[in-house]
Amino acid sequence: MSALDLVPVLPVVVIDDPATAVPLARALVDGGLPALELTLRTPAALEALRRIAAEVPEIALGAGTVVTPAQAEAAVAAGAGFLVSPGCTPDLLAALRDTGVPFLPGTSTVSEVMAVLEAGVTEMKFFPAEASGGTAYLRAVAGPLPQARFCPTGGIRPATAPDYLALPNVGCVGGTWLTPADAIAAGDWARISTLAGEAAALG
Ligand code: 3PG
Repeated sequence: MSALDLVPVLPVVVIDDPATAVPLARALVDGGLPALELTLRTPAALEALRRIAAEVPEIALGAGTVVTPAQAEAAVAAGAGFLVSPGCTPDLLAALRDTGVPFLPGTSTVSEVMAVLEAGVTEMKFFPAEASGGTAYLRAVAGPLPQARFCPTGGIRPATAPDYLALPNVGCVGGTWLTPADAIAAGDWARISTLAGEAAALG
């Protein structure tokens, strides 16, 4: 499985209350986006992964904001089927590989892309996308390094997502706009399904 080819827009999700995890995942599936990247940014994240893995097996479940080898292991043990990191170090890259699941190491410079390619990995995250040059950067990188494929995230919105998705070296984009904190807190799953449906239509 390639984590870049699951959905055109990968929902980047922050969960504060594990009780919201399953209805949120179901809302994304219902809207037409059967994948998510659940960030390890809150104490609830691992429990949320466990619940989604157990109760929504039809979703491609990723863990994001993986910044240490221990987090990579813990996320896979909790049920993550793929891993995403905001940046990359040699130790983290080795740990991501050791888990045996697909992963997208984060890059934001040409040298970082080259280091990841040197390790035999051609699919990666581009973060923070808008702050690091956006579509102009990706177009420029495609010249010397056409084998690198990206999931750009960071600052991407519905209006700009199509510009990224039109690039040959972009497999999908990621973003938090599909799962607003106020909608999660209010249990407004219909709104999240609608946002997911609009994003799915970009693919
Ligand atoms: C990420 O981790 O990919 C970013 O936090 C997502 O950025 P966004 O909130 O601008 O979509």
